[in-house]
Amino acid sequence: MSDRVTMRVKPNGSIRVTGTVDFVDADGNVMESKTDFSLCRCGHSKEKPYCDGSHREAGFSAE
Ligand code: FES
Repeated sequence: MSDRVTMRVKPNGSIRVTGTVDFVDADGNVMESKTDFSLCRCGHSKEKPYCDGSHREAGFSAE
């Protein structure tokens, strides 16, 4: 498996992250490592920074 991480912007939806990412605090400490997840870019998720599917109900459009 590749060490590269892919971030795919989905039309009118989230940003799909494929691979493992370390979330690091301001001091450089790894707070959490997460694999294969979606980030919210619509602002409606109740689980930010992750997508919870609320973009569909909100009718989010990237245009
Ligand atoms: S992009 Fe899915 S909830 Fe925001």
